[in-house]
Amino acid sequence: MTLPPTIALDGPAGSGKTTVAHAIATQLGYLLVDTGAFYRAVTLAALRAGVPISDSETLIALAEQLQLETLWADGTDGNFYRLLLNGEDVSEAIRSAAVEDAVSQVAAVRGVRDVLNAGFRRLAETQPFVIMVGRDIGTVVLPEADLKIYLDAAPEVRAARRGQQIGVADQRDVQRALSQRDQRDSQRAVAPLRAAPDAHYIDTNRLDAQAVIAHVQGLITAWQVRHGSAT
Ligand code: DC
Repeated sequence: MTLPPTIALDGPAGSGKTTVAHAIATQLGYLLVDTGAFYRAVTLAALRAGVPISDSETLIALAEQLQLETLWADGTDGNFYRLLLNGEDVSEAIRSAAVEDAVSQVAAVRGVRDVLNAGFRRLAETQPFVIMVGRDIGTVVLPEADLKIYLDAAPEVRAARRGQQIGVADQRDVQRALSQRDQRDSQRAVAPLRAAPDAHYIDTNRLDAQAVIAHVQGLITAWQVRHGSAT
């Protein structure tokens, strides 16, 4: 039974992309590539090297030198994958507040995106089954992806989920930070957050993770039926 070789999964922060992608990757044997983690790793490397975030040229040169690798993880410690930066496990370090603050500026540098996108496309070409998570996968990185999905939810719903994830009771700060990132991610000039016209749009406001996963499984089965490979 053939699966869609490449699945593009886009959406704003807190829309549940990683949870859903991890479930699908685990059940069906996909490689999960969370592209946001790669932008975070470049940001971490820049902060460690003392490269000013405003210095695009040095950021691009740095991105070119980094070796980034992603490995599956079981999620029990909150990590749905492990990210290696030059062989070092930085899965926790890329979640720091300093990285969180700077990452959307790094992600706005076209040359950094070009370097990372080339790596993402290589992964999609060389791995048999890839589910790639991000903001511009269906529109820019893999416009020919076999299946494109866009997850969405209202800012307050996403903030509540994020708050629960990181154990914050007062959601106002979480929502403020999410709104700022939404704005930066969707209004930047290069590869802004946008649903591809041919993406399956899933409104997750009233759905829990299991329901979204079931919906995505249904889309995969429908793809298999269309391609004559459902059992
Ligand atoms: O998904 P995340 O929160 O880990 O993403 C970190 C940052 O990287 C966020 O500001 C959006 C940006 N990003 C991007 O511009 N393009 C992607 N394909 C993935 C993430």
